[in-house]
Amino acid sequence: MSAGAAVPVVRRVSELRAAADTVRSQGGKAGLVPTMGYLHEGHQSLVTRSAAENDLTVVSVFVNPLQFAQGEDYGAYPRDLDRDRQMCAEAGAGLVFAPPAEEMYPQAPITTVTVQGLNAVLEGRSRPSHFDGVATVVAKLFAIFGPGRAYFGEKDYQQLAIVRRLAADLSLPMEVVGCPTLREPDGLAMSSRNIYLTADERPAATVLWRSLQAGREAVEAGSRRPGEVEAAMAEVLAAEPKASPGYAAVADAATLDRPEVLAGELRLLVAARLGRARLIDNIGVGCDRL
Ligand code: PAF
Repeated sequence: MSAGAAVPVVRRVSELRAAADTVRSQGGKAGLVPTMGYLHEGHQSLVTRSAAENDLTVVSVFVNPLQFAQGEDYGAYPRDLDRDRQMCAEAGAGLVFAPPAEEMYPQAPITTVTVQGLNAVLEGRSRPSHFDGVATVVAKLFAIFGPGRAYFGEKDYQQLAIVRRLAADLSLPMEVVGCPTLREPDGLAMSSRNIYLTADERPAATVLWRSLQAGREAVEAGSRRPGEVEAAMAEVLAAEPKASPGYAAVADAATLDRPEVLAGELRLLVAARLGRARLIDNIGVGCDRL
């Protein structure tokens, strides 16, 4: 990371609104990159894209308590705002919004966003309140800043699908932009939670990528039954002694429904725990009817 001027930080909702009003009053476009901080190159790629498409890019850095259940890593989630500001500067952000929790939730909210359907599968099975918390904070960020575009990584594919539906269902005048996952040279998807991996666990964490490759190979070899493809992925996850498998699933890329026969645009999705790190990953696979 090269040294350079860090991006200015605002902590108050009123300050972020004022920045948005200024850019819009000058006919400019405002882009938002919502994050929980501890940024990596994957986040930077979202910022770079937003900076290329908008006049002001704001990166929100907020570890949202609403999306963590009891016993999850809310307290331990890595935080380093100075480093985040540098990374935002390198990628072309204009402003960081880093509110304290009391600013986002001055009182315990009695009005929240509830997600149905898309919430009931994959991550939602083991984290039933997670996406309601994500949808609530994202809706608040959209309401505060009013971005014309907001940028989310495909690494959290279910989250991206839910945020797209949120924007459509609530008739928000904005575009939700999905951006490709960035990977380490050995295939591990970049994630703030990779910091939890020990030196022993780090090589084993490629099991998610290896599992996805096995799924892709099964589809490319002609498998059209979801169960067969899922079994190929699950076998790879189960063979890694350092990993506790979560799920290995095939879904329709748009609806996240499990297809009866594989056809069209699909998503292969996996989750596994390695020590303290619960990791998820996914890839897209196109599939012709045989
Ligand atoms: O993906 C994340 O980092 C978070 O879920 C988000 C979208 C910033 C909401 O807190």
